[in-house]
Amino acid sequence: MKIKLVDFDIRGDARGSLIALEKEHNVPFDIKRVYYIFDTTDGVRRGFHAHKNLKQLAICVKGSCKFLLDDGTYKNIYNLNEPTKGLYIEGFIWREMFDFSPDCVLMVLADAYYDEADYIRDYKDFTAKVNKSKTKV
Ligand code: TYD
Repeated sequence: MKIKLVDFDIRGDARGSLIALEKEHNVPFDIKRVYYIFDTTDGVRRGFHAHKNLKQLAICVKGSCKFLLDDGTYKNIYNLNEPTKGLYIEGFIWREMFDFSPDCVLMVLADAYYDEADYIRDYKDFTAKVNKSKTKV
């Protein structure tokens, strides 16, 4: 299980800024999928799931939003408000996204194709699985 905030180098010049994301250089997995969330309805909260097995890197390329990450024991809130910042999430972690600014574009890179079977969408199932893994020696 791993959660990490990463800073990307800006290839900037007088014309503006550019950030390149490359497998193994600043993205620690083989990128299979990219999706982005935008035009989010005011006040909405989304996510509400954990993945059984997925590596993801979330970048708020425009605007801002917050991530609640919960490993079943500890909860932390991460504020994504710069396109230079990425939130790396690996392992069995419950996530909720909220406080989307009206202009927010949240881009997510993933190491696997979309697969509903990889999702745990019930918080009780999530905590039950966390507790089961804790009792294993
Ligand atoms: P959903 O999982 O509800 O989004 P979030 O967890 O961000 O709240 O996904 C919304 C819809 O989009 C749902 O019908 C599944 C579909 N979807 C894909 O087809 N591919 C994807 O990569 C993702 C993330 C979702």
